[in-house]
Amino acid sequence: MVSDDKVDSGRRHFLTVATTVTGVVGAVAAAAPFILSLKPSARTQALGAPVEADVSKLEPGARMIVEWRGKPVWIIRRTPEMLASLSKYDSLLKDPNSEDPNSLQPSYAQNADRAINPEFLVLIGVCTHLGCSPEFRPQPAADINSGGFLCACHGSKFDLSGRVYKGVPAPTNLPVPAYRFIGPSNILIGDDTGVAA
Ligand code: FES
Repeated sequence: MVSDDKVDSGRRHFLTVATTVTGVVGAVAAAAPFILSLKPSARTQALGAPVEADVSKLEPGARMIVEWRGKPVWIIRRTPEMLASLSKYDSLLKDPNSEDPNSLQPSYAQNADRAINPEFLVLIGVCTHLGCSPEFRPQPAADINSGGFLCACHGSKFDLSGRVYKGVPAPTNLPVPAYRFIGPSNILIGDDTGVAA
């Protein structure tokens, strides 16, 4: 005859094992969503990937916008008049040579044109003050209120190279992303592998 003690002890052992297994399964099941959520989604991965822009149909003086990493990237095809206007108001600019360490651009765009090829300006179209998107004013600079970019939010002004004027709230020039030409009319944004510094 089996004693009550033995039965109780056997049942206790079964319940302990069952509870432990249930706990582990429960923990794995509960952890699964977190493990999945730690893996970047295809969309997130795609958002970080370089994007290609075909500028062959971009008219002189016009702008096109592509999205990269969730931000608007502007490509402006500057006319000779626009480029000539760039040296006009250097003394009114905060950082004409993009020397402020907080001014974001690759070294190959650290010049007055802020570009590899002066004809094509590539900028991240987000104001360095509080992140609004400035308005594009394509006419060459007859005065600081004409050519360039105006951020109506708090009045920041940038010239046609994205260089910020003095006396406005935006602290630095508009950022230039890494990029390179992969053909005469094709720009890869987000990848500058092989571009000479
Ligand atoms: S966000 Fe551009 S001036 Fe404030």
